[in-house]
Amino acid sequence: MTAVITVQDLTKRFGSERALDGVDFEVGRGDIFGLLGPSGSGKTTTMKILTGEVEISGGTAEVLGFTDRDFGRSAYVKQLGILSDNSSLYDRLTVKDNLELFRKLYGAGRHRIQEVLEHVGLTEQRDKKVSLLSKGMKQRILICKAILHRPEVLFLDEPTSALDPVTTERIHDMLLTIKGQGTTIMLTTHNMAEATVLCDHVAFLSNGRILDQGRPDNLRHSYKNNKIHVTYRTGIIKSYERSEVNKNILETALFDSNVIDIRSDYPSLGEVFKKVTGRELV
Ligand SMILES: Nc1ncnc2c1ncn2[C@@H]1O[C@H](COP(=O)(O)OP(=O)(O)O)[C@@H](O)[C@H]1O
Ligand SMILES: [Mg+2]
Repeated sequence: MTAVITVQDLTKRFGSERALDGVDFEVGRGDIFGLLGPSGSGKTTTMKILTGEVEISGGTAEVLGFTDRDFGRSAYVKQLGILSDNSSLYDRLTVKDNLELFRKLYGAGRHRIQEVLEHVGLTEQRDKKVSLLSKGMKQRILICKAILHRPEVLFLDEPTSALDPVTTERIHDMLLTIKGQGTTIMLTTHNMAEATVLCDHVAFLSNGRILDQGRPDNLRHSYKNNKIHVTYRTGIIKSYERSEVNKNILETALFDSNVIDIRSDYPSLGEVFKKVTGRELV
């Protein structure tokens, strides 16, 4: 894997509080990496460190060959696309004028505004004032703003939190297209369904520590238990360990006309998160 982001033993203290406590991960080129954790686990702090807004207390981080000492430099930040909780638009300007300002700032080509608006399906809104847009539309324009200059790495802090399911799905489609164009994406979320759909690799963050990480499917496999659940026509469900002892019962169940369902446990990413961290994702 060619790592675009490498974080080693990262710590961050705010006064006596440890917001991050020895965090390690790598993000491969062209991957979507998800940092998953409940509120207060340190997701935003990690993003802010990697985007040069917050200094680290210990450990190292490297992004696109820049080390953390360079994260405050504009030469570094210009390489990134960032969507954070303080990303904003000028409400009284039109969508196009907002994007024009950022296009100039980043020295992106004129055609990019049309391109990104087409990309998010908002060309018809280009002459509307931002104040008239829905929350979901604003969020999509903020993502446009973040990708105008074709950044190699896109950092998205909770890109879909508090959005309706339809907008969320549109944003997911957008992100998969952006990934398809070769952009590396790091996002945070506490939405496990989102992580399952989008992420090539996820890390579970809890109280400033990463408790496990991997590909969503691999994590789900490694935390599945070994039970087979057999549902009978009467509604009774019996669970059997998948073992030699139960071989006959399970084989018989396959051909038993009183059996209406046989399934194995395959936990969702959310269930895995709960097993690993002992916490719900809220
Ligand atoms: N500027 C700050 N000053 C003091 N404490 C902070 C600051 N930013 C974050 N924290 C603390 O660090 C911890 C992690 O916060 P944060 O990274 O925002 O978590 P998340 O994004 O996962 O909700 C929390 O306990 C939070 O109160
Ligand atoms: Mg946060």
